[in-house]
Amino acid sequence: MTARKTYDQLRSARWFAPDDLRGFGHRSRIMQMGYGPEDWVGKPVVAIVNTWSDINPCHAHFKTRVDEVKRGVLQAGGFPLELPALSLSENFVKPTTMLYRNLLAMEVEELLRSHPVDGAVLMGGCDKTTPGLLMGATSARLPALFLPAGPMIRGNWRGQALGSGADAWKYWDERRAGNLTERDWTDIEAGIARSPGHCMTMGTASTMTAITEALGMTLPGASSIPAVDAAHARMAAAAGRRAVEMIWEDLTPGRVQTRAAFDNAITVAMAMGCSTNAIIHVVAMARRAGVELGLDAFDAASRRVPVLANVRPSGDRYLMEDFFYAGGLPGLMSRLRGLLNLDAMTVAGKSLGKTLAGAVVHNDDVIRPLDNPVYREGALAVLRGNLAPDGCVIKPSACAPHLLQHVGPALVFDDVPTMKATLDRDDLDVTPDHVIVLRNAGPRGGPGMPEWGMLPIPKKLLKQGVRDMVRISDARMSGTSYGACVLHVAPEAQIGGPLGLVRDGDMIAIDVPARAIELRVSGDELARRRAAWVPQPERHQRGYGWMFGQHIRQAHEGCDFDFLETGFGAPSAEPDI
Ligand code: FES
Ligand code: MG
Repeated sequence: MTARKTYDQLRSARWFAPDDLRGFGHRSRIMQMGYGPEDWVGKPVVAIVNTWSDINPCHAHFKTRVDEVKRGVLQAGGFPLELPALSLSENFVKPTTMLYRNLLAMEVEELLRSHPVDGAVLMGGCDKTTPGLLMGATSARLPALFLPAGPMIRGNWRGQALGSGADAWKYWDERRAGNLTERDWTDIEAGIARSPGHCMTMGTASTMTAITEALGMTLPGASSIPAVDAAHARMAAAAGRRAVEMIWEDLTPGRVQTRAAFDNAITVAMAMGCSTNAIIHVVAMARRAGVELGLDAFDAASRRVPVLANVRPSGDRYLMEDFFYAGGLPGLMSRLRGLLNLDAMTVAGKSLGKTLAGAVVHNDDVIRPLDNPVYREGALAVLRGNLAPDGCVIKPSACAPHLLQHVGPALVFDDVPTMKATLDRDDLDVTPDHVIVLRNAGPRGGPGMPEWGMLPIPKKLLKQGVRDMVRISDARMSGTSYGACVLHVAPEAQIGGPLGLVRDGDMIAIDVPARAIELRVSGDELARRRAAWVPQPERHQRGYGWMFGQHIRQAHEGCDFDFLETGFGAPSAEPDI
């Protein structure tokens, strides 16, 4: 344990304490807002970084939830200051929030560095907000904890539970196949999202908030509480109280996010049946924390850790609300004790092992025991071969078993509009054995690696009852998607990766048990094609999009900007005041 800080050692005191002209300016201006010395003297300032906006349904409750955090900060003798940050609403931000994850991370880092604050509560949960907030706070190196938005309650359609994303895709295919009425469809539309909170399937949001808890960056049990449960409001107040204590203890992200903590995060991700997006975010988060992680760490964990959370889409029935009632993440982690580093420190100020004391599972079908898993091997597999020298990812637990080993002819698309139009044609020459390929959809080609990777099944085959096919792209897919989709092919086509050389009819083989992916075209022929290859024109010639293209890393490296990575230069200096 390091010694507790004194008031003089707080960075906010550099703004508020000095008897000089600058100190006068800061005090008079905070008094302009109705505060007095009772509010700040001797008190740590807690930044509450709030990603609320009028167009983020997953964070709709943050507008008032922040009041609970403030109450907690005040109870513990701190001074709360709400700082709004980029909201990154997964549904509405185009072409993809992934284009802006690093922008949020930059914003958070600079918000914390430039303001008179001593630590932070990070309010997020909708997909990219979680890694964005954590990456920024890690680089700012101030004590911080994450307040997860919590999942929304179950969807409902005529008494039947509906899951975010997963049921949208499923019923859209049924509609395209002609099996649903207009009325059915509008009822599903009105019933699939019924409360504030993030997607309640095991999508990227549920995955990333669980990973954050396993990493030790949330209060114990926080990530599973539904957004509208009164327990969520109480947890928010507790987060405010705890942030004040963390500042006195100088419990910075660097002391929590160790290699052991990241190993715990990966283990839990696998047991949750995690979103494929988790790989990219965890690699980026680890690099910010100075921990070098590659794709192989995920593949190794996947072989070791079974999927225990029976939550869709890897599971067949349940949603996050059921997972909470069954014991939530502490319940799941209690079953993984033998696979976790229990000594890892958490923001609660105690070890992960201590936070799990008393954790139990109340429903063995929702959170399975180790000897009766949903899926015996883990959630993700990393494939390599001449089509993906730097790796690519598939989620075997969410694809039809007969496609795990497959050889078929390629049907290649360079862009999404052409692909959509072609795949809807009734006269398309395509069989269930075809391998559909989309390229120029990676980090630089998208740009931003949109979630286009669950390529549509050709309409003609849908009508024949086909529901899964092998699909390959350098894009990502939504964590709520499913199917035999090979994603994150690296290097991507836009920077000259072999995916750019594939032609219609080339044979492609995937073998998930052997972790292999092969383009069955001779080396000579590929060399000829490479000599004739030209990149697609870049989409952005100016502004943020241009900067993104210049600095984005590949998928297997976490898609951070090179200049934001911790190893790029010396840590940024504290501001002069
Ligand atoms: Fe926000 Fe899915 S749209 S988590
Ligand atoms: Mg998503």
